Amino acid sequence: MNPKIPLNDKGLTYSSYLKVKELISLQNPLSTPVAHDELLFIVIHQVYELWFKLTIFELKSLIANLDQDNVNQSFHNLKRVSEIFKVLVQQLDILETMTPTDFNKFRDNLNPASGFQSLQFRELEIISGANVADYERFATLEPEWMSNLSQLATAGNLPQSFKNFLLKRKLISDQSHENILAGLLEIYRNPKHQQVQSLCEALIGYDEQLSLWRFRHVQMVERMIGMKKGTGGSLGVSYLAQTLSKRFFPELWELRTHLSNN
Ligand code: HEM
Repeated sequence: MNPKIPLNDKGLTYSSYLKVKELISLQNPLSTPVAHDELLFIVIHQVYELWFKLTIFELKSLIANLDQDNVNQSFHNLKRVSEIFKVLVQQLDILETMTPTDFNKFRDNLNPASGFQSLQFRELEIISGANVADYERFATLEPEWMSNLSQLATAGNLPQSFKNFLLKRKLISDQSHENILAGLLEIYRNPKHQQVQSLCEALIGYDEQLSLWRFRHVQMVERMIGMKKGTGGSLGVSYLAQTLSKRFFPELWELRTHLSNN
């Protein structure tokens, strides 16, 4: 016998809780006649935005946990973000089932929109340590983002919280480059700092995953459009290639050069 569908007095169902009707009404291709692959293109970008939303939420929680010295909870946040990023990278495989010819059937309709204008991606970068001032120009895209930006400017970022955490634990005595590097070397050499070392590894892992996403995205872009300009107005692949060197935890990367077997 089929199970009876339970309905309570709130009338709550799967669809009403998740707002499925609204969600599946949000994909509106612009091409006429509709190009087959435009739905894929829209869905994949929307899914990215949803994952960005959760990543931002987890990164803010991670910052709060570091500020309160909750190392176990910090690991929990980082583990989740790391799993999300694996999906973010892997999703590009689905996009690559679209051929450049199929993409060209609707690409002109996108102008001048581009992932370049993803405000959530910019938030994610700022929370991860990018300089807020470099992102002010994006606020013109949506006036309400200006308030997000000022909030982000005051809320601190992940590398700053990490340094404050090291200061509070007296693992560094100031925030100079030399002092941070010396403190990190001690953390990696002395087994009594095992837990903090694992935290450092989880943070560099996050930095690495962000780079992997950038790298995978630029490869996919070259496969789709070669050396054409981007719809967002940049030089395309050569612009994206310049972003590959962005790193938010430079000391954690530099440290490795100075480590030895004692
Ligand atoms: C056919 C698929 C795609 C192509 C051809 C493409 C192309 C490009 C190009 C050329 C740029 C440089 C800016 C410009 O001039 O437009 C860019 C930036 C960007 N794209 Fe894509 N993209 C694609 C899919 C995606 C997807 C699925 C996402 C996920 C959200 C995404 C997110 C971004 C982001 C965040 C940037 C800014 C990167 C930065 O400035 O560091 N793109 N994309």
